[in-house]
Amino acid sequence: MENWSMKNVGSLSNKTVIVTGANAGLGYEATLALAKKDATVVMACRNAEKAEKAKQAILQKAPKAKLEIMTLDLSSLKSVHTFANNFLLKHKR
Ligand SMILES: NC(=O)c1ccc[n+]([C@@H]2O[C@H](COP(=O)([O-])OP(=O)(O)OC[C@H]3O[C@@H](n4cnc5c(N)ncnc54)[C@H](OP(=O)(O)O)[C@@H]3O)[C@@H](O)[C@H]2O)c1
Repeated sequence: MENWSMKNVGSLSNKTVIVTGANAGLGYEATLALAKKDATVVMACRNAEKAEKAKQAILQKAPKAKLEIMTLDLSSLKSVHTFANNFLLKHKR
């Protein structure tokens, strides 16, 4: 049996995905992989500068990536609440 890979994933063009910690490590790689499959990816990061840098790096690799940076600090419930409200203002699903 062949190992699972992103090749097994079809188009995600109708999906919106929130990735926390999208500027580094697993979050960065997940954002890149999902963007390559045409998902709209909300990069939920606590540091806007790092997030923008990661966004530009992903756009170099996937120029058509649909990426949106939103501020989220998971250590603050106030930030989580604000993030959720802002997300719902912009996204229907
Ligand atoms: N179980 C396993 O086998 C396994 C394997 C690998 C990883 N992990 C876990 O998976 C997670 C991610 O690993 P990683 O290697 O990708 O880590 P990483 O490279 O250190 O990335 C962590 C990401 O989370 C963000 N982050 C940290 N605290 C945050 C907060 N309060 N609010 C919002 N974002 C925050 C960081 O943002 P900043 O850049 O602003 O700091 C960064 O973007 C870790 O918890 C790690 O322990 C588990």
